[in-house]
Amino acid sequence: MNDAVSTLIEKLEGRTPKVALVLGSGLGGLVDEVENAIHIPYGDLPGFPHSGVTGHAGKLVSGDLAGTPVIMLAGRAHYYENGNPAAMRPALEALAGTGIEKLILTNAAGSLEPEMGPGSVMLITDHINFSGTNPLFGEPTDGRFVGLTEAYDARIRAAFEAAAQATGTQLHKGVYMWFSGPSFETPAEIRMARVMGANAVGMSTVPEVILARFLGLRVAACSVITNLAAGMTGAELSHQETKDMAPVGGQRLATILKRMFADGLADG
Ligand code: HPA
Repeated sequence: MNDAVSTLIEKLEGRTPKVALVLGSGLGGLVDEVENAIHIPYGDLPGFPHSGVTGHAGKLVSGDLAGTPVIMLAGRAHYYENGNPAAMRPALEALAGTGIEKLILTNAAGSLEPEMGPGSVMLITDHINFSGTNPLFGEPTDGRFVGLTEAYDARIRAAFEAAAQATGTQLHKGVYMWFSGPSFETPAEIRMARVMGANAVGMSTVPEVILARFLGLRVAACSVITNLAAGMTGAELSHQETKDMAPVGGQRLATILKRMFADGLADG
């Protein structure tokens, strides 16, 4: 057992949650809704990222969300921070090592669809890796040839859709295209992304999905739309806009997630 796994198991004080949630911009407030919470700073967990992005905390929270045991990761490492696409590998390995079976990823994204504006929530059905990199570069085992035909778990997606319907929350669905960042896209890149079949663009999540599938975790992901993508409105994009708008869709996504957890997602 590696250091990160044994440290995490010790700090979880006997808890064995099966679901983990990575909180993107706008969803950080969800940690306050965790009951019986244990907060563990990433600094106490070997290999966990030291995220320097404003709007992202850096701690693991374990407890119950709507009655279901969960681990939340508040804060993630992005490829654009240090050019390491596998920056989240140690953290995800630690989660898998403690018995996590399902991983739900959230992020902030730009929309390519005028009718899916800021504040919308989009369930990711598939992705396009446009970064030119892969978190499994250098992995020596044959496990690196991981299949991604059904990367986004059908049963967890169904749970998202059921929870959205039950709470009367609009849930869009679409393809997420990963750009490396940290600069935003150009209008020409967004026109290209549309031709290629993308519905939203962002700078995270895809490497984590690849790593999660490599580790045998069932995975689902959902975007909070903070803006229409570059060139669609004439306005310049900014990180401030991402931070300001993320909580709007974040509220909607939190409503869906709480219902999913209340409905016992852990058993699905
Ligand atoms: N592009 C990439 N990442 C993003 C965007 C965007 O327009 N909005 C929020 N994250």
